[in-house]
Amino acid sequence: MTRLDLVILFVEDLERAARFYREGLGWRARVEAPRYIELDGGVGLMVREAAAAFAGPERAARPFPQGTLRAELYLAVKEAGPVLARLEAMGGVSVSPLALRPWGDTVGYVADPDGHLVAVAERGAVKVRPEDLEPVAPGDPRAAALLQARWGKTEIVLDGRRVDAAALPGFALVEAGALVGLVTYQDHDDVREVITLDALDAGRGIGRALMAKVEAAGRPVRVVTTNDNLPALGFYQRVGYRVVAVRVGAVDRSRALDRRIPTHGHGGLPITDEWVLERVGVQ
Ligand SMILES: CC(C)(COP(=O)(O)OP(=O)(O)OC[C@H]1O[C@@H](n2cnc3c(N)ncnc32)[C@H](O)[C@@H]1OP(=O)(O)O)[C@@H](O)C(=O)NCCC(=O)NCCS
Repeated sequence: MTRLDLVILFVEDLERAARFYREGLGWRARVEAPRYIELDGGVGLMVREAAAAFAGPERAARPFPQGTLRAELYLAVKEAGPVLARLEAMGGVSVSPLALRPWGDTVGYVADPDGHLVAVAERGAVKVRPEDLEPVAPGDPRAAALLQARWGKTEIVLDGRRVDAAALPGFALVEAGALVGLVTYQDHDDVREVITLDALDAGRGIGRALMAKVEAAGRPVRVVTTNDNLPALGFYQRVGYRVVAVRVGAVDRSRALDRRIPTHGHGGLPITDEWVLERVGVQ
């Protein structure tokens, strides 16, 4: 599939635009050149005249008429209010206040200092569906990158086994070219075992959809989580799993194999045991 890699906005004042996006959204620069700044949010800012090199001097000389609608950046955030306030404090002009929109998102709009429309959205009723996901082949570098970012490594130690999750098949939600959800699994003779599950954007149904994909093969599915991970325990039960075993001291034993496993996790709880859950009603 063709992937959108970057959106480049032509701006009149590079410093002003960079300040707006950096301080308004907390994005950091990953490229800084005299007439171009690229931010890790996937947006590049270019001095309009710099486009002369590829768009020709005539096009590059024409200023963008303020108030003209050309395109919009649609940003998904957890809480839109504070983000909108920050953007306005950084020179954004409110265009439409935060409100529930007919497509189910709660969205407020500001214009950036160059007049580009920026929508700040709390994704609402529209839940991710299993058919929105795509399979991930073993060794996909995007999966390795996500695992590295989330867990600091791709190797998982569970039940006394070392498993390289990046070498497993899985499913992912890909948005704007980036993985925002990933499940990896390993097929055993008797059961399909989930090795990692990550939803970067909580509460959008990503976790549920990823589990549905894993389950679609019709095999019994097992998941393992650690005793401190109460959110995951809640999530798994909510999507139809129940605890079938507790491996007391399993994480202590794993730590002997991998010293990087932290001693304390969610809420400062010591991480010691593995909880094993299986899908209710599946033999
Ligand atoms: C656990 C995790 C994958 C959940 O993903 P998610 O996309 O936020 O979950 P969903 O939006 O699909 O939620 C599905 C359902 O579970 C519910 N749920 C989620 N967390 C819950 C919790 N802690 N307690 C009870 N229910 C919970 C949701 O309300 C939702 O219910 P609904 O469908 O009836 O509305 C995600 O929070 C995550 O990545 N956590 C960090 C990594 C991790 O711990 N992975 C698992 C360890 S192996």
